[in-house]
Amino acid sequence: MAQKKRTDRPYTSADQNLLVKDANIWTGEGFTRGSVLIENGTIKRIARRIDAQDGEVINASGLYALPGMIDVHVHLRDMRLSYKEDFASGTAAAAAGGFTTVLDMPNTVPPTDSVQHLVEKQKRAERKVRVNVGFHAAATSENKVIAELAGAGAFSLKLYMPKPIAPFDVNDNAEIQKMMISAGRIGVPVTVHAEEMEPSQKKARVNNIQQLAKARPPILETRAVHRIASIQKRTRCRVHFCHLTLASSLGEIRAGSPRTTSEVTPHHLLLSTKSLKKLGWKAWMVPPLRSERNRRALLSATHAGSCDIVASDHAPHLIGEKKQRPEDSPPGVPGLETTLSLMLTLVDKGILNFSILTRMMAENPARIFGLRSKAKLWPGFDGDLVLVDRKKKSRIDSSKFLSKAKFSPFDGFPTKGGVVSTIVGGTVVYDDGELWDKEGSGAVLRSRFFE
Ligand code: NCD
Ligand code: ZN
Ligand code: ZN
Ligand code: ZN
Repeated sequence: MAQKKRTDRPYTSADQNLLVKDANIWTGEGFTRGSVLIENGTIKRIARRIDAQDGEVINASGLYALPGMIDVHVHLRDMRLSYKEDFASGTAAAAAGGFTTVLDMPNTVPPTDSVQHLVEKQKRAERKVRVNVGFHAAATSENKVIAELAGAGAFSLKLYMPKPIAPFDVNDNAEIQKMMISAGRIGVPVTVHAEEMEPSQKKARVNNIQQLAKARPPILETRAVHRIASIQKRTRCRVHFCHLTLASSLGEIRAGSPRTTSEVTPHHLLLSTKSLKKLGWKAWMVPPLRSERNRRALLSATHAGSCDIVASDHAPHLIGEKKQRPEDSPPGVPGLETTLSLMLTLVDKGILNFSILTRMMAENPARIFGLRSKAKLWPGFDGDLVLVDRKKKSRIDSSKFLSKAKFSPFDGFPTKGGVVSTIVGGTVVYDDGELWDKEGSGAVLRSRFFE
């Protein structure tokens, strides 16, 4: 992959300063013209004019500075699934997509199901990540394991209803409640893949991807959301519902407990079963794409502010694996390199606006997962930002992805608005289509729900 070397000139202590000059800076309410000075990883000053000092200067005139995007739902794989994606390639994709922080899902080999496995991943990630990375852990109802995982910095306990990652009886409400009581006491949220599977639905025999998708109808989500939300009401636990596909799910969560939150993906907002026949394996993911009617309803509910988070559910697989017989094709599509430009395109079309975009892709992710020093371009906050060009016209081209998963259901999609530079803790990790040689420039984040 193309990499710029930053070691061409001698390293001086002044390199710890970065001045982003003359950008349109997102204030939280609108844009204001000015410069951002980042010192030792932290935003030091924002002002109309800041004179260039020692250190690096980026001329950002004409560009828009947004808080670094936070993707709370990615599968970076690595460990024994490194052939699909590893910490370096996955975080390179994140940087190219404008994400400065990502939270990794626990369905890996080995799974993130114990403090040992969590620490193994954290250690391995430390030297390789180009953006900030935190880890979710597998759901468990063991008090002691929950306390250990939270103590080691897990960002949530992930309940994967179709097939638990660590032994867990998802049909047993008492076990779910037990987990939620402990998690609620500690303050760690539970994240849920909400699909209520029945034994017969687990291995449907099919001829094509449309049939695979049909075997997982919307009712499975409706039932799962309802059951989990009813258990949550009896506890103090915070529950975050991943990749929801129905406006009615968003409605139920919004109308329910204030401690429940929702997430949607760009593919469920923009694609439907209408394109499934043409796209085939490229659009096979779970939950599957829904009808055009459901898709439109999900998009208008999101437009109306009914959803908390947009996440990519970046789920890389090799093309060779995806192209197998439908029943052997692993579900999931990469999304880190398409999500922000697709959302910027919706802003350009007037379907979304910058308030909703920054709320769903930075502020709410930071609030819900306790990343207190992130998501605001204010003095004292972390120097994580993305510079976007709102006029940049392009087409999605998966052959250029830095992810190892070089396919996308969005190939050929026209976009308007794209990432120019991604800055992590005051370090430029991606600029003008190129990745800087900065393996290890990101930090491994540990949750601080205890404090
Ligand atoms: C994910 C994966 O590949 O790990 N696949 C997917 O289709 N979304 C699993 C998941 O998030 O459910
Ligand atoms: Zn192990
Ligand atoms: Zn899922
Ligand atoms: Zn996922």
